[in-house]
Amino acid sequence: MKISHTAAYIAVKFYGLTLDDKLGRHFAPSILEFYEKMVDFLPKHLSWYHDSLTSPFWRKVFILSEEMLLPGDLMHIICRKHYITQKIDLALEEGFEQFVILGSGFDHLGAYISQKGTHCFELDHDYMIRPKKHFMESAGYESIHLHFGEIDVREASVKSLLLGSEEFDRKKKTLFVAEGFFDYLSLSPSENIFNDIRELNSSNELLTTFFSLDELSLFHRVVFRTGVRMVGEALKFKLVREEFVELLEELGYKLTDEISYKLMREEFLKKNEIKLPILSGFYIQRYKPV
Ligand SMILES: C[S@@+](CC[C@H](N)C(=O)[O-])C[C@H]1O[C@@H](n2cnc3c(N)ncnc32)[C@H](O)[C@@H]1O
Repeated sequence: MKISHTAAYIAVKFYGLTLDDKLGRHFAPSILEFYEKMVDFLPKHLSWYHDSLTSPFWRKVFILSEEMLLPGDLMHIICRKHYITQKIDLALEEGFEQFVILGSGFDHLGAYISQKGTHCFELDHDYMIRPKKHFMESAGYESIHLHFGEIDVREASVKSLLLGSEEFDRKKKTLFVAEGFFDYLSLSPSENIFNDIRELNSSNELLTTFFSLDELSLFHRVVFRTGVRMVGEALKFKLVREEFVELLEELGYKLTDEISYKLMREEFLKKNEIKLPILSGFYIQRYKPV
């Protein structure tokens, strides 16, 4: 079965790390349960982690080996799931009526948002949406508020796909969430998506993660790129924070909120006495059309 291994490993890493209560207690039990079921559902070469990571010894070995190659990668996953869930809660309070998850992979956001009675659209490649849909049905996450769209955004338009869906309402203020998504795209499809979001409704907003690779050491930059390439994927976008912000400004967006890896380090890791580091150069940003 063809799947995105970067997406699958995010689920595995999150599941393994949050088995430790020091990290697990920062997440709702329903989120922990989602990833537990998800890792069990993954193909055999990944689902063996479901049982092996319950052993503290194997968890330690797993963490040590991951940290040796790219220190901070594990905690960036915990932080991004923590802060993105927090930002989604905030957006729900602010009255966003619809959510679109770009490159939803094996993440919990569609289940989380639809369980709150808000419409959510998960978009990803057909080979990711099919197993995800199957999982959602078999694990009891089906909902009238949850919708799926199969798309390769390099070849088709997000705007056309959404407008072709009976459930999507362009009049509703929508938050587009791109967690670990734009890093894999080149400039042109990314620009098309930024334009689509604004054209669908000028009240729409974008919540995205961003890696400024220039803030990593040369060695870790190479490890980062190689790691992604090893699972058959590639990073393409020009990964420099200032250039990304400028590009979005040129396309009519304003950066309205940003959580930097420095803030995550101070506010989340240090405060909770979590000894593992977080990768430099990692940001979560929110943009609004102006
Ligand atoms: C790093 S994973 C992140 C998954 C999930 N958002 C998370 O954070 O757990 C990137 C996801 O983007 C999807 N993706 C990458 N390129 C894409 C494209 N051209 N069209 C649609 N989806 C794409 C991949 O299939 C994968 O599921």
